[in-house]
Amino acid sequence: MWDWHIYIGYVLVGLFSIRFILPAFGHMKIQNPLSKDLTAKMKVQKWTYLIFYISVIVSLTTGLIIELGPKDLKKSMEDIHVLSIYYLLAFITIHLAGVLLAEFSDQKGIISRIVSGSKKEE
Ligand code: HEM
Repeated sequence: MWDWHIYIGYVLVGLFSIRFILPAFGHMKIQNPLSKDLTAKMKVQKWTYLIFYISVIVSLTTGLIIELGPKDLKKSMEDIHVLSIYYLLAFITIHLAGVLLAEFSDQKGIISRIVSGSKKEE
């Protein structure tokens, strides 16, 4: 039943690898939440993404070790891996709440821009 999630996991390993190679070529730099010229709100956003990225890397690494790694690590990796569900649900909740907050405060139309992909409000 969980086979589909393992295949998606492998695809995610590929996409995440590309995500972390791109900054080496000057694209999509990882943003620093400690940077001084950020507002408190931007710092919270950047910390949330950083923690999420680290959590996904832990899920992917432990998932790969369960599947491909040595048998004696399997049990301990599984114990860590199954915790993934907690950050995943937390991140989805925070993300949706953030988008709704933005829509109804200073970034009206953000939901429609996410759906339609347009850059400017018309
Ligand atoms: C962001 C990526 C991932 C997330 C959020 C995630 C999440 C989860 C969760 C919540 C479970 C527990 C299911 C249960 O209740 O039994 C699980 C199980 C499992 N995952 Fe992942 N997973 C990810 C990536 C991967 C990858 C890349 C692999 C392997 C290539 C993998 C292999 C497995 C295996 C083998 C199990 C079963 C472990 C067991 O029997 O306890 N996962 N995963």
